[in-house]
Amino acid sequence: MSAEQIKAPRGTHDILGEQAAGRAALEAKACSILEGAGYARIETPTFEATELFARGVGSSTDIVRKEMYTLTDGSGRSLTLRPEGTAPVCRAYVEHGMHKLPQPVKLWYLSSFFRYERAQKGRQRQFWQVGAEAFGSEDPAIDAESILLLGTLLERLGVRDVRLRLSSLGSSESRQRYRERLQTHLRANQASLSADVSERIELNPLRAFDSAHEGTVAVMRDAPRLLDELDAEDAEHFATVRELLDRAGMAYEVDATLVRGLDYYTRTVFEFTSDALGAQSGVGGGGRYDGLVEQLGGPSTPGMGWAAGIERILLAGGPPAAGAQAVDLYVGLADVGEDGSYARVKAAAFEIMSEARAAGLSAQMEMAGRSLKGQLGHANRIGARFVAIVGEGETLLKDMQGGMQETLETATVVHAALRGLRELT
Ligand code: HAM
Repeated sequence: MSAEQIKAPRGTHDILGEQAAGRAALEAKACSILEGAGYARIETPTFEATELFARGVGSSTDIVRKEMYTLTDGSGRSLTLRPEGTAPVCRAYVEHGMHKLPQPVKLWYLSSFFRYERAQKGRQRQFWQVGAEAFGSEDPAIDAESILLLGTLLERLGVRDVRLRLSSLGSSESRQRYRERLQTHLRANQASLSADVSERIELNPLRAFDSAHEGTVAVMRDAPRLLDELDAEDAEHFATVRELLDRAGMAYEVDATLVRGLDYYTRTVFEFTSDALGAQSGVGGGGRYDGLVEQLGGPSTPGMGWAAGIERILLAGGPPAAGAQAVDLYVGLADVGEDGSYARVKAAAFEIMSEARAAGLSAQMEMAGRSLKGQLGHANRIGARFVAIVGEGETLLKDMQGGMQETLETATVVHAALRGLRELT
């Protein structure tokens, strides 16, 4: 009896063959767009001190309350698999004294993240994000540039039916004043609210805008809007962001009810959705977080950035899967019987493969014990341009496209394949 099969944990998946090629194409595109705009790659650890997310993302958020994979290590430290990338990148900015570098410091990442969420299409427990963060500039041009970069990336990746929603949350002071007004409104209508929203009036009243609960939606229709209460400076900042987006021809919809699931935002917030996705329509989003670096123990430093889900990008269009890697030479074995000559032929074939690779060719050899016919069939399947059938002392080199074939001394095979490929170009 075979042992019980073990499956990948719920909400996780393996990335195989063509999917890996599609992701590689996505990564290459992100790299060229972001590095072209001055972003440098950063990779932070997969786990961090739990405190980083509790303080950074906010203890009243769903992420921190319910979705973190937290463990205690052998020394009793509380560690958490990163649920998002902004707090870790801020930590790295502070830890490496990046405030001393010329600002803005621009960093991008493509990494996997972990949230204990109800798994469904487009929502996993381990998922991948491409993200970009810019530190050290309050200029609204940074906001507009950042948003445009994500818009360009989604467009170049062929993500369908994209819409951009945009809002501003103001500074933390105007938000605090607004919070109190909103709380007053929610308390006055508490009986109509969902239990979840009602419980969080004190903790996180803004999340009420996110609720699909009928009574809550009705109460929120008459709720005061933060956008109407921005102070003059924040309102001007937001107007400039909008003007720059207009000039760049980026369509957007101002949506005063836009709420993001993380607490660190100030001023600009935005979200790209795709109507090609189902319920999980958020492809990517972000905003400004001018207080976060300071909150994590660094100097007062403004920040602006976004992250987009790789799985959702791929679901909503995604890049065409990159073509399979071309195989220049497939090294097969002639039928020589199972005696000592077989071992010699195999060693010669291995040498040809190594020599071909050293010469810069992509080469593979037969390793599954196929018959001659089986080997030719396999070479065809993987799209090999040349096939070398190695025998004792001599080798048959076959051009799989031109149909030419010649018998050569084994030592000259790689040379002949190289010559043949050169003639093709
Ligand atoms: P977020 O909105 O939580 O923002 O996530 C960004 C994107 O990650 C979402 O739009 C979605 O595409 C993807 N995503 C989130 N959760 C899942 C999941 N469970 N399964 C699949 N995809 C998912 C942030 O994470 C912020 N750190 C963005 C940011 C960067 N803000 C400023 N800088």
